[in-house]
Amino acid sequence: MAYILGVDIGTSGTKTVIFDESGTALASATYEYPLYTPQNGYAEQDPEDWWRAAVNGISDVISESGVSASEIKGIGLSGQMHGLVMLDAECKVIRKSIIWCDQRTSKEVVEITEKVGHDKLIEITANPAITGFTAAKIMWVKNNEPQNFERCRHILLPKDYIRFMLTGEFATEVSDASGMQLLDIPKRQWSDEVLEKLGIDKSLLAKVYESPEITGKVTKQVAAMTGLAEGTPVVGGAGDNAAAAVGTGVVEDGKAFTTIGSSGVVFVHTSDISIDKKGRVHTFCCAVPGCWHVMGVTQSAGLSLKWFRDNLCWSEMETAMNMGVDPYFLTDKAAMEVPIGANRLLYMPYLNGERTPHLDPNARGAFIGLSTMHKKRDMIRAVMEGVSYSLRDCVEVMREMRINVSDMMACGGGGTSPLWRQMLADLYGCPVKTTQNKEGPALGVALLAAVGTGIYSSVPEACKAVIKADKIQEPVAENSEKYEKVYELYRRLYPRMQQTFAELAQL
Ligand code: XUL
Repeated sequence: MAYILGVDIGTSGTKTVIFDESGTALASATYEYPLYTPQNGYAEQDPEDWWRAAVNGISDVISESGVSASEIKGIGLSGQMHGLVMLDAECKVIRKSIIWCDQRTSKEVVEITEKVGHDKLIEITANPAITGFTAAKIMWVKNNEPQNFERCRHILLPKDYIRFMLTGEFATEVSDASGMQLLDIPKRQWSDEVLEKLGIDKSLLAKVYESPEITGKVTKQVAAMTGLAEGTPVVGGAGDNAAAAVGTGVVEDGKAFTTIGSSGVVFVHTSDISIDKKGRVHTFCCAVPGCWHVMGVTQSAGLSLKWFRDNLCWSEMETAMNMGVDPYFLTDKAAMEVPIGANRLLYMPYLNGERTPHLDPNARGAFIGLSTMHKKRDMIRAVMEGVSYSLRDCVEVMREMRINVSDMMACGGGGTSPLWRQMLADLYGCPVKTTQNKEGPALGVALLAAVGTGIYSSVPEACKAVIKADKIQEPVAENSEKYEKVYELYRRLYPRMQQTFAELAQL
């Protein structure tokens, strides 16, 4: 039997899973680490924490599974996208990594747009300049910490730092590199034009591979630290969303997934490149060689319900603890007692600004239509519906771009709620499914390793063999009709509030 490893360097922790070639997980280990917020809007992590978590996770799953190191045929790496890791001439980390959700770069977003040009940026990098993307973070270091920029010899993304530590190679792959805003997305190679206009030397960047390609081999020193065999191949892997796509079988046209995690993502596979000229959704290279994906992001999806739960559902949390159930089981039950439309209550989920479709860091959350008749359960339902309307906004942009969205997988914590999945099915007008295997990105990159090392001949073939659909929820026409009326009202809210949000941000 052949075994494969998937390592997912997430924001809250690193999850390592060992699978057999049929995709069955034999052992899994997660190590958490801190997020540093030295100032409002800043978000940093220590690459050494990721490395420790990866080494511990790899050693754990090898010893727990009892698999002999020589039977591990390959390793795939997945990770939080966009984070900036800078190394000096001795390959030492220069400063903590500025990660994806850091918002310090609004000045650099203006600078990048001026230097490259808005239309040119969309033509080459398929996206407008965004605070979260790596290019803005590099420019921030250049502008604010010139001594660190001067010392920098290598720029890596989070999972690519782990690759460097495992193999000694400076390599990345197209899906994660897409989120740096330095890649020519149609050509799948670094853009000389963007690099030159931003004054970033190409030699700082890693070599770009396709996701299943072998990028390096585990060194002797790492083998001794982890229990891996020296020479175990490490494939390109993928950014966390592209990895989740492989882990849920979203590798063909028409297939899509929705994640309701802290943020919400609607991800659609496309075999032809498709770019939104208005920049409302991201177009990135995907983990299937020669293909792309379009992705819409709701900044505060599960986070909206978590915020509501933590601030207003103390009694439910206590009851849940006494009953030994997840508090979300009780919030779901409460929301189920409320009819569609939450008794004429609307919620805008823009707690931390919004990406798709508004691209507005100043947007904020709101309940609209509150009355004395409303109870907490109406508000819970309104929050879940508001998040679903925002996700539908993402699907609307994609359909406007003539992208086929007809087969939807649901994942993330919110994806485990049958009520939330039914809302999505009713609002998208297509079936919403879950998969039997819940390992998402870690499975996705393990499958990329299986392809890269010849266990499967292609990514779609690997997915066909391994990914099995579980529950399927069909849209209910009567529900869709009711949601449609409320969604139309929801869509009209943001344009009316936009100016108020901007003025509120100035107070
Ligand atoms: C994608 C994005 C997040 C991060 C963190 O654009 O910002 O999904 O990859 O998970």
